[in-house]
This record gives sequence, C-alpha cells and structure tokens, in this order.
Amino acid sequence: MPFHEPRLPELVADGISRGKLLFTDDLKAAAANADMVVVAVGTHDGNGGWQTDTVRGALADIVPAMPDGATLVIRSTLPPDFIRQLPTIVAGRRQSAGRTAIPVMLNPEFTREGRAVRDYQQPDRIVLGVVSDPDGHGESALRELYHSAAAPIIVMGAIDAAITKLGANLFLATKISFANELAEICDAFGADVSTVVDGMSYDTRIGGSFLKAGVGFGGSCLPNQVTMTIRTAAQAGVDTPLLTAVDDVNHRRRTQVAERAASMLDGTVRGRRIALLGLTFKPDTDDLRDAPALTIAAELIEQGATVVAYDPMPTARDRSTTLVPGLTVEHAAADAIAGADAAILVTEWPEFVELDWGAAGATMRRRVLIDGRNVLSGERLAAAGFAYSSFGRGTYVPDGAAEGALASTGRVRTLQWGEG
Ligand code: UGA
Repeated sequence: MPFHEPRLPELVADGISRGKLLFTDDLKAAAANADMVVVAVGTHDGNGGWQTDTVRGALADIVPAMPDGATLVIRSTLPPDFIRQLPTIVAGRRQSAGRTAIPVMLNPEFTREGRAVRDYQQPDRIVLGVVSDPDGHGESALRELYHSAAAPIIVMGAIDAAITKLGANLFLATKISFANELAEICDAFGADVSTVVDGMSYDTRIGGSFLKAGVGFGGSCLPNQVTMTIRTAAQAGVDTPLLTAVDDVNHRRRTQVAERAASMLDGTVRGRRIALLGLTFKPDTDDLRDAPALTIAAELIEQGATVVAYDPMPTARDRSTTLVPGLTVEHAAADAIAGADAAILVTEWPEFVELDWGAAGATMRRRVLIDGRNVLSGERLAAAGFAYSSFGRGTYVPDGAAEGALASTGRVRTLQWGEG
C-alpha cells in the first residue's frame, strides 16, 4: 500500500486474489466497462484553499467514456460553487461525446484515517446527494451498493450533501478548539480539563467525543476544510467569526508548545536537545499532512533547539526530515529520548503511552516532559521525578525541582497550577 491504513492491505490482497479488484492507469478503459464510477480525487491545493483541476481532469477522461445507463458518483469533497457547475460540466461532456445523459450523485465520505475500513463497513449514516438523477437510477444503484450496511441512507440535494460533509468536519474542529480554549480556562483556575469534559459528557446533548484538549487538530481534512470554508464563505459575502476563531485557537496551540518548552527549560530552548515523540497527525496513520509535530519542530529549531524526533512509522520518519530542515530522526524512541533536556509527546501512539517513563527519564539530561495529548498521568510522572506539563491539567513540578535538579526527586510534594 502507498500509505498505512489498518486492515486495508488484507482487504486489497483478498480482492486481488479473488479477481475482484484490478488496478489500471487507463481511466477511459476502466470507465468504459463500469456500471458505476466513483471519483475520489483530492480537491485541496495544499495551501488552505480548494482546487478543482484534478476532479475536472478526471471527469474529462471518464465521463465521455462511461456507458449509457452507468452512474457517476463523486466522493471527493467539493467546493460548494463547483457543485452548481457540475450538472453542466457532465452534461456538456456527454453531449460532445454524442452520448446519453447519466445520473450524477454525490456520496460524501465520513471515514477517519486509521479507522477507515471500519468506518466504511459500519458507517453511522450514508449521505446521498442528487446532482442529476431524473429517473432515480443513480439513487437505486447506490442503495444497491450499500445494501448490507446497517445505517440510515439519507438522500438530499447535492449542495445539502456537500455542506453536510463540510458541516460535520467543521463541527468536529469546533469541538476540539472549544476543548482547547476550555483547557486554558481550566489551567487558569486550577481545574482538570479531562475531569471537566468527563463531567460534561454525561449530558447526551453534549457527549464526550472530540473534546480532547492538546496540541490541536491536524491532517488533510479538518484544518483545510476550516480554512477553505472561511475563504469560500468570504467570497460569498459571509463572515465566519466562529470558524476563524476555531482556526486561530488551533494554530496558537502549536506555538504554545514551544513557549511551554522554553518556560520549562529556564526560559529558552536555545542549545537544548528536545525529543519529539510522534510525527504523524494522529496515531494509526503515516500521514504527515498538516501534522502539528512538523510545525512544533520547525518552531523549536528556529528558536535554536536541536530536535530529535521518533515516530513508529518509518515512512513518516523518512519524509519528516525533508519537510523540516534541520530535524533529526532516530529509529527508536529510547534513542530520541536519551540525552534530551525535554521530551514532547505530540502523537498519542500507544508506544509512548505505555513507555516506561521512569527508565526513559534516567537516560535524559533533564526530566522535563510536555504531554501534548493529555494521555499520561501527571502524578505518576512527577513521582518519577519529571517536571510534567499537559494542556488544561496543570503543571506538575517535583519537590526541590529548581535548577536542573529535576532528575533526582522521587515524590511530588508541589503541584503548581496555571504555568505556561
Ligand atoms: C476527519 C473526520 O473525522 C472524518 O469523519 C472525515 O471523513 C475526514 O476528516 C475527511 O474529511 O476525510 P481525519 O482527518 O482522519 O478524519 O482525522 P480525525 O480523527 O478527525 O482527527 C483530526 C485531528 O483532530 C487529529 O490531529 C486528532 O489528533 C485531532 N483530535 C481529534 C483532537 O485534537 N482532539 C480530539 O478530541 C479528537
């Protein structure tokens, strides 16, 4: 597989061995024999904006070649104004090829990286957006495709489907930035954001998911869809102060990590060796797109630190050094941590959560740990002699921890709230 996705290699191998899955780079030939064509190409420009060249190019090849009676399904996330043009684009290509009209449907995806197979096989809902389907053939073809899924199928207009997709991601992003802002309030008043969110989550109107505070959201979907929507809305004359705040809170987090590291290392990271644990934007993927770790590493290097990173994904390790000039990677967590003045946990890979931090700390120059995902226990870390800081859960400093003596203390006697 060209990327890491749990369970996908097995499914692909099975499909190939049973002759059910074929690959080709000949779009026209593939489309010419299809009952249904699903277009799932990328639509962002890598710079926080939309691009439709790829989807337009794919349609130019595919649409004229599709047999009469086949259904065109677009799964890519499309900009709302492109949806308006879609019926004309497809109809124009069919006409100039001298072929009859085909049904055109949207079928936005809600799968998460790292859980994509499960999310696809057991979806919460299936959304179908009708771009053009005069006799209902497109809808029935998709219902047939999803006949075994035990999820509601919701049929709506194309623009509604497109904005349902965006709205879901925007809401998830909003929840995360809300949790991060709440974490700052918790730090200021000595509360623990994890306990607070847990207490809130029993209210069924609120729930507990996507309220984990930390270094914020990354990846190719949430950050881009927030900025793309802000820009698209502005072009349509709509002001989006809430989404702007969601983006600001999210990006501020990344800078705060470097500030936090400096404040825990006597005011500067210059000349310090910092172990960065986790490069991918979340566990169970090797995806580095808009990964908080890369921004944090660049910021620390800019401020004069030596940053030594480790991630369980070899491909992520290899690629990260080309994306962040000056970044060093090690091929084991222990090697990144050894000799470090501070460690920063950026991605909550189980390997870091389960690490023997007592033993790891013994190899560090100073036992300073910033937990960017709120996954470790401050009490336990402080008991192991660490100065420990997370987001919205206070900062733990072992007793007698002044001036480089962090490595020697055993138990926590001092608990300082509100630092950093
Ligand atoms: C997201 C959506 O969750 C999917 O439903 C959607 O289909 C997909 O985008 C898409 O549009 O293709 P994904 O980007 O794979 O999926 O990642 P998420 O699981 O949503 O996580 C995004 C980021 O938020 C990660 O960096 C994660 O660490 C962070 N996060 C998540 C938090 O900081 N706090 C949380 O409570 C949850």
